[in-house]
Amino acid sequence: MSIVYLNGEYLPQQEARISVMDRGFLFGDGVYEVVPVFNGHLFRWDQHLNRLQRSLAEIRIDLDWDHDKWQKMLRTLLLKNPGRTQTLYIQVTRGAGVTRRHGFPTEAEPTVFAMLSPLESHLPDSLNKVSPIHAITLQDHRWQRCDIKSISLLGNVLHHQEALDAKVDEAILLNARGELTEGSATNVFVVKDGEISTPPADRNILGGVTRDLAIELINTDARYTCSERIIPKDELFLADEVWITSSNREILPVGVIDGCTVGTGQPGAVWHHVAGLYQAFRQQSGNAGLKPATN
Ligand code: PDD
Repeated sequence: MSIVYLNGEYLPQQEARISVMDRGFLFGDGVYEVVPVFNGHLFRWDQHLNRLQRSLAEIRIDLDWDHDKWQKMLRTLLLKNPGRTQTLYIQVTRGAGVTRRHGFPTEAEPTVFAMLSPLESHLPDSLNKVSPIHAITLQDHRWQRCDIKSISLLGNVLHHQEALDAKVDEAILLNARGELTEGSATNVFVVKDGEISTPPADRNILGGVTRDLAIELINTDARYTCSERIIPKDELFLADEVWITSSNREILPVGVIDGCTVGTGQPGAVWHHVAGLYQAFRQQSGNAGLKPATN
């Protein structure tokens, strides 16, 4: 049975309770992180913690947790939920006010919640076993601060469900000017003639930890280069390859968009190379991330 962390306690998931006055419940007033656990260790924890702290600061939640406090809680949670490949969800809300009012309650203490679940969608060991996903394009109807990892995910949820209703895996979003932003729960890369591009990490997208790692690996390896630039819709359909990235899905090729085949429809050579770099990095750092407490 999964043991979760809630406001200082470790308890079975079914027993965890929050107040109906919690602002996460009433207003979607909070932020979150999703961190993969590979080989029993949290992968890219420092990068996820930096983003969480940035999201908290952007929405003005003052949470008095330093690096050590996060580390202590997470190591205990990992110990209570053994597993080599999992996904960690962390949510911090503004807490429960006495009454429902829009302004920040002065009396509320932030609610801190964390849970681990099995991670099924990650890359298989052999990249040859990866099947390209299918996607549709949709107009991005979300708000203007997509850089904050907010729990107010209604826009993302509706976009994603539209993709599932269309029997595809992901919705690729375009702004009102027809420029690529990101997926409903992923970042997007395009490849043309060996050149890799992804939209800039401005307020219109979430700056993905996987996106940043992919860019870093591509530029360090130097076989290819990656530019962050505006990508018009046409380029999606003319691309040799399109990929999506996220902590849970890692780096996946897209084979079909709006019913049109991308490139050959099969995982491309550039994806193969970059996914290989990513896997090698993950294996090398497999024992270096945050790990369970030993006592
Ligand atoms: N989503 N863009 C959006 C809108 C996302 O929701 C996510 C991740 C990403 C990729 O970010 P990262 O590489 O840091 O996971 C980009 C997570 C996995 C989720 O909401 O479940």
